[in-house]
Amino acid sequence: MKTIIAANWKMHKTVSESLDFLKKFKFDSGDIIVIICPPYTSLYAMSGKTDISLGAQNMYFEKEGAFTSEISGAMIKELCEYVIIGHSERRHIFNEDNSMINKKVKAALEIGLKPILCVGETLEEREASKTESVVKEQLRLGLEGVDVDKMIVAYEPVWAIGTGKTASPAQAEEVHSLIREIVGSKVPILYGGSVKPGNVKELMNEENINGALVGGASLDPNKFSELIENAK
Ligand code: PGA
Repeated sequence: MKTIIAANWKMHKTVSESLDFLKKFKFDSGDIIVIICPPYTSLYAMSGKTDISLGAQNMYFEKEGAFTSEISGAMIKELCEYVIIGHSERRHIFNEDNSMINKKVKAALEIGLKPILCVGETLEEREASKTESVVKEQLRLGLEGVDVDKMIVAYEPVWAIGTGKTASPAQAEEVHSLIREIVGSKVPILYGGSVKPGNVKELMNEENINGALVGGASLDPNKFSELIENAK
């Protein structure tokens, strides 16, 4: 399985900043699939201007209608191949639940987008030994009625996102192997949560870690290309 390194820019970079990143971003991907998920505005601006695969950070499940500010699958399908669904910031800041996330996954697949479904436990859940049950439940409900072989899954422990605290390779692998049992051998499982140039290699060495979803460390073109180099 090819390693996937996906950048989640979150709410960072204007159109001109994104185009400037593209100009400065020099990298040799080797066998790695590199995906950038910028804000919608930059997605439009970057589409057609780069060979790098692009993805959106979210979408709505309805096809069209009176849903002020929402973006449909068809709207992003003209611009990109991938879409992140159920990121923990969507779950926790914007109250997206498993049922809404399942609708989004289905709508993405229906239009021909490749969904990256994010799962992961909070610190409170980990400390209460609920990691396994939370992740299993997110997968069971998120993937209900879905052809799982068309998916990418990202394990992102909420306590490791943007905090500088990375799960140790062993901690991550423990959950990745659990996810593997559920989704099977064909689905790439990415790790996300404070992945940096300095820790990507040891994470990628684990058997069931097939790539990374990178936030902060993907915003700087030099740092991100170093991260890609170290992931090889
Ligand atoms: P981080 O974000 O790399 O900044 O921790 C990862 C993510 O939220 O996808």
